[in-house]
Amino acid sequence: MKESVVRDVNKIGKTILKTESFDKALSQIHHDKTTVGAHSMEVACTALAISRRLKSLKISVNEEQMIRGALCHDLGILGRYDKFANNFVCCYRHPKDSVVVADKLLGGLTDIEKDVIAHHMWPVTPVPPHHREAYIVTLADKICAVREIIRSAEKNKAEMLKKAKHMQKETA
Ligand SMILES: [Fe+2]
Ligand SMILES: [Fe+2]
Repeated sequence: MKESVVRDVNKIGKTILKTESFDKALSQIHHDKTTVGAHSMEVACTALAISRRLKSLKISVNEEQMIRGALCHDLGILGRYDKFANNFVCCYRHPKDSVVVADKLLGGLTDIEKDVIAHHMWPVTPVPPHHREAYIVTLADKICAVREIIRSAEKNKAEMLKKAKHMQKETA
């Protein structure tokens, strides 16, 4: 990831990143080997990297609102095992809960921020986004989820190999 992208996400998201909610997000496990907070940072950075490519094609994006939405898109997933009965319910409900959390956190949401957060699970959830910023975050979310699942599988494989070698040594 380009240093300028990470720097700009930190700068634009400064007030969100300093909140207690984001602190909690940094400690809740997500996609097996990452956290909700780390995932949200990756999604915001990936979305910004995509939007800068689009800028070179003369397609304008509201970077500030897109990044704020991306950083808050999964905050409604915090405490998922206490509030959602199963993964299916979590999948449908957490975008709505994220809107409520973000609305409180930011003291109101713009149309773009709300769209980014509420529709980030599309096409898994049926209602599509209305703004290009929300389509970019939806795409970035999927790219990051796939990356995280591959990374997690690689780590699990490495851990299993390490364990197997250790057991071989013990029985030798
Ligand atoms: Fe999500
Ligand atoms: Fe996500």
